Amino acid sequence: MVIKAFLFDLDGVIVDTAIFHYQAWRRMANELGFDISEEFNEQLKGVSRVESLEIILQHGGLTLPEERKAELAAQKNQWYLDLVSRMTPNDILPGVPAFFSQVRDAGIKTALGSVSKNARLILDRIGMSDAFGTVIDGNKITRGKPDPEVFLKGADELGVSPADCVVFEDAVAGIDAAKRADMIAVGIGSPDVLTQADIVVPSLEHLTVPQLLKSLDRTAGLDVY
Ligand code: G6P
Ligand code: MG
Repeated sequence: MVIKAFLFDLDGVIVDTAIFHYQAWRRMANELGFDISEEFNEQLKGVSRVESLEIILQHGGLTLPEERKAELAAQKNQWYLDLVSRMTPNDILPGVPAFFSQVRDAGIKTALGSVSKNARLILDRIGMSDAFGTVIDGNKITRGKPDPEVFLKGADELGVSPADCVVFEDAVAGIDAAKRADMIAVGIGSPDVLTQADIVVPSLEHLTVPQLLKSLDRTAGLDVY
């Protein structure tokens, strides 16, 4: 087993759009007469728009007709896009550019693996459209995380076996998806939340590629290089 590819989630790993998703969903919940906490929001991370809406409505004790749900999902997306439209390359999370240049130097392939249908738009806004070997987004998959489809498709498009891939994820559902894909999962965030990750770091700023390969070697017993 040799690490050949890194697969990155977008929201909360490359950019902090996770907070925009939360703000837009919270606004919707408030208009419907209830609130959602940051803790509750953890279970929405990495989950598709439609599934997130179902989870939120259930939390608020609301059953709504399909038509109304479609309106709410579209409204949330509009609020979200208003926030995203103000993004620039300055919104790339600290440590990401330096980490990517090390990844390139190490000859490791890269993929984006996001459930978001807005992923391409965000990559354009932050000037990272050409940063990945392949981009798998919500338009290319039929099942959201924790289903492994998004990462398996990424590995397939890169021509790399899943066991030779490392996934970078800030979401519980995303770590589950990586493990179900038989990949190594690096959690970005808190070890108390991302309990199933192989290792957890606060952000990519706290990682270098050689360091990471070394610690994965220890943690997962890998042959690296
Ligand atoms: C990512 C985010 C989720 C979001 C999903 C769909 O996985 O972590 O919070 O619900 O994408 O995003 P979209 O932009 O298509 O609504
Ligand atoms: Mg995420």
